[in-house]
Amino acid sequence: MLIFADTAEIDALREIASLGVLDGVTTNPTLIARSGRNFVEVVAEICALCPGPISAEVVALDSDTMITEGRKLAKIADNVVVKVPLTGEGLKATKVLSGDGIATNVTLCFSVNQAMLAAKAGATYVSPFIGRLDDYGADGVDLIARIRAVYDLYDFDTQILAASIRNPAHVEQALLAGADCGTMPPSVIKALYEHPLTAKGLNDFMNDWKKTGQSIL
Ligand code: G3P
Repeated sequence: MLIFADTAEIDALREIASLGVLDGVTTNPTLIARSGRNFVEVVAEICALCPGPISAEVVALDSDTMITEGRKLAKIADNVVVKVPLTGEGLKATKVLSGDGIATNVTLCFSVNQAMLAAKAGATYVSPFIGRLDDYGADGVDLIARIRAVYDLYDFDTQILAASIRNPAHVEQALLAGADCGTMPPSVIKALYEHPLTAKGLNDFMNDWKKTGQSIL
């Protein structure tokens, strides 16, 4: 599964990128607003920092303007993926942008039927939101598994980008459900490798090694 960071914070991205496990970045209007940065400038900086797919979302609600915005965003860098909401207008824009050869990420997906339409429109990625479905009292991970089953049954090429991931359990469940990618806050990426038993075991090793009085170098 490809690991994407869901943020527009450059310093946090630098730290995660240094781990060597970052495959891409997703942003959305809320994350851009939270960064306090100019949208085009921060997307360009992220694209330079991370060579993988970088999702930048249109903000128009009509397909014609989404297409115009998407074509402008695609010019920022070769690794820009144009993010489009899963609405009727968004599907129209996805069809045109994918016809232009522009990579698209259809976002705010909450059902199998929506994901099916995103694939038919030629979406490169579809973003089902696990956490927000859980908040709604539904089963977000189960949606990933059902989309996986349908995409495999009908041989759709669209990649499932599990989004709205809130914790390591969501990551493990998305892995088992067959998501192609997962996007999550940098804090969740860090939590993937942090474990109290690892810390305790390493501490015990170090204490026992010190007793030998030896050094490797
Ligand atoms: O950026 C898309 C998605 O990951 C947003 O997640 O936590 O705002 O539901 P969240």
